[in-house]
Amino acid sequence: MTNSNTVHEGKPWGKDVVVDIADGIAWVAINRPAKLNAMSAELAFEMLATLDALELDESCGVLVLTGVGDSWSAGMDLQDYFRAVDKMNPMEKAQVYRANAAWQWGRLVDYPKPTIAMVNGWCFGGAFTPLVACDLAIAAEDAVFGLSEVNWGIIPGGIVSKVLTEVMSQRDALYYAMTGENFDGRKAADMRLVNEAVPKDRLKDRTIEVAKSLLEKNPMVVRATKTAIKMSKSLSWEQSSEYLRAKLDQTIALDPERGREKGMRQFLDEKSYGPSGFSVGGVEASGIVSHPLPSPLPSRERECQLPSPLAGEGLGERGNCVRTTHSKPGRTNLISLGCKHTAGKRDGEI
Ligand code: COA
Repeated sequence: MTNSNTVHEGKPWGKDVVVDIADGIAWVAINRPAKLNAMSAELAFEMLATLDALELDESCGVLVLTGVGDSWSAGMDLQDYFRAVDKMNPMEKAQVYRANAAWQWGRLVDYPKPTIAMVNGWCFGGAFTPLVACDLAIAAEDAVFGLSEVNWGIIPGGIVSKVLTEVMSQRDALYYAMTGENFDGRKAADMRLVNEAVPKDRLKDRTIEVAKSLLEKNPMVVRATKTAIKMSKSLSWEQSSEYLRAKLDQTIALDPERGREKGMRQFLDEKSYGPSGFSVGGVEASGIVSHPLPSPLPSRERECQLPSPLAGEGLGERGNCVRTTHSKPGRTNLISLGCKHTAGKRDGEI
């Protein structure tokens, strides 16, 4: 991220938070690089207002949280948060704590759009809260993580001790919180603190890939899915079953794209969509037939290396794998893979 585009007329960001929106992805970056993006009291209010604004902004389909420069966030700012808050009166303190909690987990845990933490460097202490609160996390392999609180004479406070137990094993959480030992992005991925770690020069591209895949989905269903998974975690089996039944009904009832209905119709009646990603016969006169997906998956131009399912019937021995755009359940822009075989003399008679 650069901070070249910090000025957004009438937007709440622009100082400690910068936002760049491109192709449906809102890149939200903490912009305190001189302090390695340590989080101040002031930042909390700006970030909270930013998240609220992007919630309503239709140009934001997926939100990526990152940091300007080479740091994701060096945790709570020892000067501009801890020391600053120490000097405040109880009412002011309460406001800061509330705003900080609201952005770091209140908004993010329940954000109505998919969120990805793109960890580009240091990630310490309080930064674990927004890290875990984001739905997904992708780290640079050489990013450095540290639960350093023990070295500062404090416990992992805020809500850090709680969020650790959400994604880390008890042993890992205790080990790293009690020793304060640092670990890198690879280790974070091994421990499932992040989804994956990639070389730093691939970090942004990989994040874009994941974000694009989320953007292709039905937003209403993605939203309900993440809520369902997060909520079910703290419910009993009986409560989950009842809650999920109601959540499913709610999703179906409120889905403006009528995804379930369309999906069933396309698969069962029109035979125009297969969820495993192949197209089904009879769609085009030139002949689209299905066979298991080739590996590696074809690009638009790649020639299909698999024998045609029509070979021996006087039809094409092989054809060209193409990416086929289907009207997918609930959406019209699904890209799935189909294998379009050249039909011979029985052209159109599949
Ligand atoms: N709070 C306030 N300022 C911080 C900070 C934090 N959490 N983390 C870094 N900074 C500031 C430093 O004070 C320094 O500012 P200065 O140039 O005005 O003196 C600047 O950021 C650069 O940090 P520096 O320590 O010089 O960088 P480094 O590359 O040598 O070390 C770290 C990087 C992350 C290892 C080190 O800054 C650090 O340990 N920070 C504290 C991280 C932490 O434990 N956070 C959790 C707090 S509970």
